[in-house]
Amino acid sequence: MGLVIKNAIIVNNDKIWDRPQDILCEDGKIVKIVSSINAGGHETVDAKGKKVLPGLIDIHVHLRQPGREDKETIETGSKAAVKGGFTTIMCMPNTNPVIDNPMTVEYIMHEANRVGLCHVYPIGSITKAQKDEELTDMAELKAAGCIAFSDDGKSVLNSRLFRLAMEYAKMLDVLIIEHCQDPLLTSGGVMNEGAVSTRVGLKGDPGIAETVTVGRDIEIARYLDARVHLAHMSLKRSCELIRWAKSQGVKVTAEACPHHFSLTDEACASFDTSTKVNPPLRAREDVQAIKEAIADGTIDCIVTDHAPHTKEDKEVGFDGAPFGLIGLETSLGLVIKELVKPEIINLPKMVDKMSTAPAKVIGLKSKGIIKEGFDADITIIDENKEWTVAKEGFVSKSKNSPFIGWKLSGQVECTICNGKVVYKV
Ligand code: DOR
Ligand code: ZN
Repeated sequence: MGLVIKNAIIVNNDKIWDRPQDILCEDGKIVKIVSSINAGGHETVDAKGKKVLPGLIDIHVHLRQPGREDKETIETGSKAAVKGGFTTIMCMPNTNPVIDNPMTVEYIMHEANRVGLCHVYPIGSITKAQKDEELTDMAELKAAGCIAFSDDGKSVLNSRLFRLAMEYAKMLDVLIIEHCQDPLLTSGGVMNEGAVSTRVGLKGDPGIAETVTVGRDIEIARYLDARVHLAHMSLKRSCELIRWAKSQGVKVTAEACPHHFSLTDEACASFDTSTKVNPPLRAREDVQAIKEAIADGTIDCIVTDHAPHTKEDKEVGFDGAPFGLIGLETSLGLVIKELVKPEIINLPKMVDKMSTAPAKVIGLKSKGIIKEGFDADITIIDENKEWTVAKEGFVSKSKNSPFIGWKLSGQVECTICNGKVVYKV
């Protein structure tokens, strides 16, 4: 038995279809898109009045398993993902043990398959135990299932190692995702360095900690003619550097997170530890620049950097709390509220940033577009439905969101992964 989506107004990265279509999914693939399909014998989902998008793809998520199952598990993280409209997520390697060996990769893939809600791709670490001392065996990790590598949570500071990693990644055709933040410059900062940090008396993390690393990575990518993907860009200056590098033909791609275009560093003045995130929330001009960079193509992808932490871990002083906030369940709503409704981007461009471009960046050739022959990963939304973020509403194990109480636009109505309904309101 297949699945038929009836009355679908399809939104791909290039356009919104003007007439409703029926979509037949069989064996995990989209097999037919025509104006009317006899659904006899198939399961049906009626999408009348809704928008039908290629399944959202988040290439930057922290699932915490193995090691910190009190914060999140592959199961609870997958539930949060499909509730947020995501059909594919990539999980970062800062687990315990670190994803630096094939056994851990296989364990995560096996558990994700058992849960069976969305596709989960583990990201291997660039250096063993993320210690910035010795490279992992990237070929062995690729064979186990890693299509991208990162030491996210921190930069690969050792430039010689980073150069080598980029050379191996080029040979293996895998993606290097770099967390850009020089800890010698950050030196214990807990929020953006600027007028607000001075006023509230919290130690500042200067923007140059990010931009010097962005500059270095662009230079290494240019020198090697190799690809690099820059994680969670937060600054106007970072966008300027990336824009310039792209104009020179450097193979750099970049991502930004909803919290970096929805909140400024003023939010930290509340001392709410869910606003403590790495890189930190920045100044108003940076927020504006990130929006412009998303609109003009400097920033390729929108990702969540979903970083769950327990109440116990976060309910300490601002200085002592871990960095991170949860994002899977609020991402689409924030993108529609902050970017689509104010007409900074339209719905097809949103689809590009949240599905088509991420699929392309990580090399998933049959995802990111609703098209015959492509994977049957589909997200149905009502972009006009408003809802209020509530702590009790989160299915993620952790609740560390600075958006609780916010009214957002855009509701996920149904998520379909591999041709099966995995979430429905
Ligand atoms: O805020 C963050 N939290 N930034 C990171 O880079 C790591 C993440 C985490 O793992 O908690
Ligand atoms: Zn991260």
